Amino acid sequence: MSFKTEIMEFPRFVIMGADALKKLPYVIQKLHLGSKIQLVSGATFTKKIAEEVYLLLSDNGFKVSAFTVESNPVTYMNVKNLAKRLKADGSSVVLGVGGGRVMDVAKLASAWLNKPFISVPTSASHDGIASPIVSFLLRMNVAENMGVEYTEARAPVAIVADTSVISNASRRSLAAGCGDLISKIIAVNDWLLAQKVKGEDYSEYAAAMALMAANIVKTGANVIRVGGEKAVRTVVKALIGSGVSMSIAGSSRPASGAEHLFSHSLDLLSLKHGFEHAEHGMQCGVGAVMMAHLHKINWIEIRDFLVKIGAPVNAKQLGIDPKYIVDALTKAHKIRPERLTILGVKGLTKAEAEKLASETEVI
Ligand SMILES: NC(=O)c1ccc[n+]([C@@H]2O[C@H](COP(=O)([O-])OP(=O)(O)OC[C@H]3O[C@@H](n4cnc5c(N)ncnc54)[C@H](OP(=O)(O)O)[C@@H]3O)[C@@H](O)[C@H]2O)c1
Ligand SMILES: [Zn+2]
Repeated sequence: MSFKTEIMEFPRFVIMGADALKKLPYVIQKLHLGSKIQLVSGATFTKKIAEEVYLLLSDNGFKVSAFTVESNPVTYMNVKNLAKRLKADGSSVVLGVGGGRVMDVAKLASAWLNKPFISVPTSASHDGIASPIVSFLLRMNVAENMGVEYTEARAPVAIVADTSVISNASRRSLAAGCGDLISKIIAVNDWLLAQKVKGEDYSEYAAAMALMAANIVKTGANVIRVGGEKAVRTVVKALIGSGVSMSIAGSSRPASGAEHLFSHSLDLLSLKHGFEHAEHGMQCGVGAVMMAHLHKINWIEIRDFLVKIGAPVNAKQLGIDPKYIVDALTKAHKIRPERLTILGVKGLTKAEAEKLASETEVI
């Protein structure tokens, strides 16, 4: 009998706290990452934070080059431009200072060039801050334009999460992070289902970490709803745990189930019909309520959690027309047909989707 070889890649340093940014020179030196830094940030708020980092690193003898990610959404072109810059500058390490867009571009470009990547999240909106995975839309865009082999990212070598910086991000982004986290309950149930039905490989360790991440925010709801640094610490800790669960599994399986497929499905519909989709984590949270109902687990508990921390629980609060919620539900199973979830192989009919969404009061 032979067993599959498993490869797991983890961050070497996780630094979280009110003054975490100041530890960046120490982390880079301790990990022997060289002296040429490519700093990647957004164009507005995160640029100011990146400017502070620029000064800090320059004062400590590093040669720093700055790159700005302006477009929204990001595409393969942003990644290509950064990769070009990395090559030209001969940078030894990439530092992503920003929200999800910056993180995605920095993570993927560094993977292409096999350079270490340090994640410096400025918001806590999803678990991409710690995972070896980039967002669904960017993956799709890169696969279509360059080939699927270019979608492979790697886990950050270090995560430096400054909670006083993250506390300045919007409450919405924190609520989105919580929606992403509570949805791990569904992802793990879907994974167990696939193990039972198809004998899919299942890691108890990865699943336990993902569930623990969901539990941290569930039990911390009273702290999170108040906001501030304590809330941010709770959510960031859980997001890092969820990111690491994906490193253990070697895929997003423990962190992404039918609720993520529903969110991806909404994102695709928004591209097709030109409406604005909501934040990833918020869509996942609403998806989790509906998928919990399908799994016959306590969907009201998930909804109550979302209400408590101020996240949307229905189409109106998401700002999405109910017809797209139903449409997304009927198409979600086609997004990753190889990933069995509670939506099954055939998915939901329109009537089943309408019933599910109305029984859970989403529409
Ligand atoms: N990798 C994954 O697994 C994963 C999962 C889900 C979503 N995503 C991707 O992540 C993106 C969404 O992430 P996001 O919600 O963080 O949005 P974002 O578009 O990266 O950031 C939203 C806005 O918040 C600002 N901001 C960030 N930190 C701030 C702070 N501390 N104070 C004030 N403003 C701050 C940003 O400033 P700037 O203008 O300076 O950037 C930007 O204007 C999407 O592109 C999505 O596809 C990735
Ligand atoms: Zn997610």
